[in-house]
Amino acid sequence: MEISLSILKIDYAKIGEALDELKPELQYVHLDIMDGHFVPNISFGADLVKSIHKDSSLFFDTHLMIDHPKQYIKSFVDAGSDAITFHLEAVDHPVELIDYIHSFGVKAGISIKPATDVTALKPYLKYADLILIMSVEPGFGGQRFMPEAIEKVKYLKEEKDKHQYSYWISIDGGIQDQTLPLVASYLDLAVVGSYITSAKNSLEKLKELKHICR
Ligand code: DX5
Ligand code: ZN
Repeated sequence: MEISLSILKIDYAKIGEALDELKPELQYVHLDIMDGHFVPNISFGADLVKSIHKDSSLFFDTHLMIDHPKQYIKSFVDAGSDAITFHLEAVDHPVELIDYIHSFGVKAGISIKPATDVTALKPYLKYADLILIMSVEPGFGGQRFMPEAIEKVKYLKEEKDKHQYSYWISIDGGIQDQTLPLVASYLDLAVVGSYITSAKNSLEKLKELKHICR
């Protein structure tokens, strides 16, 4: 399992410095895109993603919390995304959107909000490269982990093993040293924001979480 760093709560004027500090341990960066409609907050867009994508050795894991995601796929691919995850609740034809994302040569992910039943993903599991379970209401960093997410990632792990699917299982929201052990055995990628980025020594926090993963 790997850690994907959410930059949502970093001071945007200091993203470069923050990433440099974490560089020795950092492989995955999680970009939270919010439109103020699908979620009650606005974050940043493709231009900011592009400007921090100087180091292309990092894997850019883009999480679109937006309506009409198809319109924006190309700009986030051009900005350097390696995987693009959209919300099941935001689209009518998930398989078409997965195919569209794949046409750019990047990985395609589907995410669900806490209120969405995990079995709603079942028809799409064979097509997706990544499934992202929200363990907080999407919109803000620094919220408390919702334990209901544990059963969801467990279900995804069982389905993956049973059918030999290839998707990565990921979780997003409230992940820290106490909550990661509750889900670690089911995951491929854990998204972590404020626990790392609000810490005094963020590199130590990232190392500590990676140690839990081993
Ligand atoms: C919430 C975002 C998360 C969030 C994670 O809508 O999708 O990626 O930034 O931050 P923490 O780890 O602080 O919950
Ligand atoms: Zn996210």
